[in-house]
Amino acid sequence: MRAYQVTQFGIDQLQTAELPVPQVSAGTALIRVHAVSLNYRDFMVVKGMYNPRMALPRIPCSDGAGEVVAVGEGVTRVQPGDRVCGIFMPNWIDGVATSKKNGSALGGDVDGMLTEYALLQAESVVRFPQHLSYDEAATLPCAAVTAWNALHHAGDPPSPAHAGDTVVIQGTGGVSLFALQFARLLGMRVLGTSSSDEKLERARTLGLDAGLNYRQTPEWAKWMIAMTDGVGADRIIEVGGAGTFGQSLQATRVGGLVAQIGVLSGRATTEPLPLTPILHKQLRVQGIYVGSRAMFEQMNEAIAGAQLHPVVDRVFAFDQAQAAFHHMESAAHFGKIVIRIV
Ligand SMILES: NC(=O)c1ccc[n+]([C@@H]2O[C@H](COP(=O)([O-])OP(=O)(O)OC[C@H]3O[C@@H](n4cnc5c(N)ncnc54)[C@H](OP(=O)(O)O)[C@@H]3O)[C@@H](O)[C@H]2O)c1
Repeated sequence: MRAYQVTQFGIDQLQTAELPVPQVSAGTALIRVHAVSLNYRDFMVVKGMYNPRMALPRIPCSDGAGEVVAVGEGVTRVQPGDRVCGIFMPNWIDGVATSKKNGSALGGDVDGMLTEYALLQAESVVRFPQHLSYDEAATLPCAAVTAWNALHHAGDPPSPAHAGDTVVIQGTGGVSLFALQFARLLGMRVLGTSSSDEKLERARTLGLDAGLNYRQTPEWAKWMIAMTDGVGADRIIEVGGAGTFGQSLQATRVGGLVAQIGVLSGRATTEPLPLTPILHKQLRVQGIYVGSRAMFEQMNEAIAGAQLHPVVDRVFAFDQAQAAFHHMESAAHFGKIVIRIV
């Protein structure tokens, strides 16, 4: 089988290798992978920004969808012919996160999905909604589950958002557009930012209530407060990281929640950390790290019920994986970038 491997860091260093098709053993399922989607984390893995000490070679990409072609002894959860996705953290089946459940994430700690065949624990796959294509299903495991967790769970005990809440999304990448779609399903109001007026217009067709260009207005928190009658937003889907965290704290209402997810503008602040709004406004800053299989399954039910389709920006062929990563680097995308394998 052909699989992409990171043998040295860099998009242009990403190469295919000819590897043996893995053989099933007890408790495992062999997946013929049809499509993979890219997350910003995969881009960081390939560039060596995620973990410069990562053991190589490593098959990248956490997110894939495919067909079960064989199962090992004792497997009853899936059978050949089932259309499935792998889950991001194979050990997080349900309940509260622990360090054990957090480990072994696909495409980082262990080999991922940018391969023709992947051998996964049968307990760590989920059937995806029937109305989705493989390209669409491949977008779900990381970005969609993260957005779902940030809106419906957000910690233990959970702090779910509610209909009528105002939610802020940042940019128009994978996590943000899933958060937009899920928030609209729940009857929330969504405000957003983007570097592009044209992308904001496109987001409006998905239900964005109002948006602001963060290049033109880097201090967008004042606008969010004005748009909420001086109160502030109930929840921020914070993917910007160090460069947006301060604005997010300012834009949140008293008692509101910042779901801290991403690091798009960096991980460390050059400015002093603005701690005062956290205590003055009694904010909750809740870290989100994807989610469990149970969250994935709950999300799939909602996607099926609403016949919702993920936003796929562009589909690349397997041989064009480097171009797909360069496309992510350009930040020209709107929604998810997919690599079709068959
Ligand atoms: N904690 C977790 O479990 C988890 C899970 C998934 C992702 N993440 C993280 O979340 C972030 C987003 O991931 P993704 O896969 O959704 O990325 P993505 O699809 O590559 O999204 C990139 C988009 O984000 C927007 N953006 C970039 N810099 C921005 C900034 N300073 N302020 C506001 N928006 C900005 C841009 O949108 P415009 O072009 O519209 O400006 C850009 O196109 C990444 O840092 C990723 O590592 C974390």
